[in-house]
Amino acid sequence: MGEKPLHETIADADFARRRAEARARLDALDPAKNGGGDPFRRDWFAAVYALAEGDAAKVPWGNLAPHPLLADWLATRRLDGMRALDIGGGLGDNAAALAGQGARVTSFDLVADAVAWANKRFPALDFQTADLFAAPPDWAEAFDFVNEIYTLQALPAGLLPQARQAIAGFLKPGGKLLVVARAREDDQTIEGPPWPLCRSDLLAFERFGLQLETLEDIPPGATPSRHWRALFGKIR
Ligand SMILES: C[S@@+](CC[C@H](N)C(=O)[O-])C[C@H]1O[C@@H](n2cnc3c(N)ncnc32)[C@H](O)[C@@H]1O
Repeated sequence: MGEKPLHETIADADFARRRAEARARLDALDPAKNGGGDPFRRDWFAAVYALAEGDAAKVPWGNLAPHPLLADWLATRRLDGMRALDIGGGLGDNAAALAGQGARVTSFDLVADAVAWANKRFPALDFQTADLFAAPPDWAEAFDFVNEIYTLQALPAGLLPQARQAIAGFLKPGGKLLVVARAREDDQTIEGPPWPLCRSDLLAFERFGLQLETLEDIPPGATPSRHWRALFGKIR
């Protein structure tokens, strides 16, 4: 998906070669690269994990470490007593980082292969196969903390309102949402996927009962490209 690796593991030359080859193969079979296909991209996400055959290098976001902007944010915080939900959890590292700070974490992903893989890596955590757009009804207003990293930017703009509504709906009143995503200007067009988010993409969460508490515009450094890190609170 065009971004350089985030974690030291990926400094390994052979890992990097396998990652680059997989990206080229996955881009070639991604209809979204040509503006077409199923907007939900379900077959493509399933293909990513099926074709990886257990090699994280072949999952473009499979960096075998929590996202550095999550790790950095969590370093000064505890989530003890909180029930947390990780959206589109992939290989499970972000869920593990949340659990490491004391949260009771549920992580879900659309792709059953991803869920089985994450579960094998972190057997003590709760990984579930579920669709953001058809989530279990008992998740409504059930979580104190929701973590969203890179799922929104993997969806076309037309699905973002529905995605925001679903994500906001998981939070209890007073709960917090953390969003980490690649950043672009409001008037900037970037060919995706991924489709970096603009400021107004984030502010639109306020239509669903959330209030922006902090918005960090983070230049390349910890990550190879500009990112947002946004924290919202659900209005009580
Ligand atoms: C770009 S990856 C990011 C994974 C993880 N959050 C991370 O940062 O490593 C997006 C993940 O969301 C999952 N996904 C895509 N659409 C989804 C949906 N509708 N419901 C749940 N998960 C979804 C994909 O299978 C994939 O694992």
